[in-house]
Amino acid sequence: MIGIFDSGVGGISVWKELHGLMPNQDFVYVADSAYCPYGRKSADEIIERAKKISEFLIKKNADIIVVACNTATAAAIKYLRLHFPVPFVGMEPAIKPAAIESKSGIVGVLATAGTFKGSLYLNTLTKFASNIKVIEQTGDGLVELVESGKICEHEVELLLKKYINPIIDAGADKLVLGCTHYPFLVEAIKKVANNALTIINPAPAVALQTQKIINDNNIMSTKNSGTNIFISTGNIETLKMLVNKINHSVNEHNFAVQNI
Ligand code: DGL
Repeated sequence: MIGIFDSGVGGISVWKELHGLMPNQDFVYVADSAYCPYGRKSADEIIERAKKISEFLIKKNADIIVVACNTATAAAIKYLRLHFPVPFVGMEPAIKPAAIESKSGIVGVLATAGTFKGSLYLNTLTKFASNIKVIEQTGDGLVELVESGKICEHEVELLLKKYINPIIDAGADKLVLGCTHYPFLVEAIKKVANNALTIINPAPAVALQTQKIINDNNIMSTKNSGTNIFISTGNIETLKMLVNKINHSVNEHNFAVQNI
């Protein structure tokens, strides 16, 4: 079984890629919506949540856990790898492909404050961004909008304009989505950016990396069709709405609210 978790519903954008690549695998997804957002929480608070959710997923027989949250990866992945016996896959800020593909040599990154503070992000910058200019923008408020199911409202566009216009004005031609909630805003981002930016979502690369680890560790399911379970620690309505948008065949019974 592949365990996945995020501070909320955002990691569903990663589940979409994982499930698309490995439809026969079993997945258990935990949205920590009761504790969302993680973006401005301390690293210790995030580690505490990541620890509890990982324990829960391992009790449910997870063979591997995907931390489908950039902020939780930044704060907790080292701890998780050290304290639990299963492999963990985290979200990598996609600076490398953006740097390679950028023609203007200027790249925008939209992420949470927690992600920008993490050593993972700083290491990625040192490794891949020495020849480009990176414009960092925190997306305050966007996670909350996605959590409440607002993905294309006027409110979303207004906030996106505030964040994206300065990136465009600075001459960027690529926008790295450094938070797993943001792929749900792609249509609104495209509308605001009006072709000025190519959007880079790291989720497909993370799904490929997960598949590689699964193959290397021989934990590929041999069943014909996998089961997908979705658990929320808080409000489950947006989780249902986003999953159903991606896959209509998920049964109502596969959703549950649980205290973790
Ligand atoms: N999806 C999380 C991420 O990728 C959102 C963080 C938050 O809850 O603020 O960073």
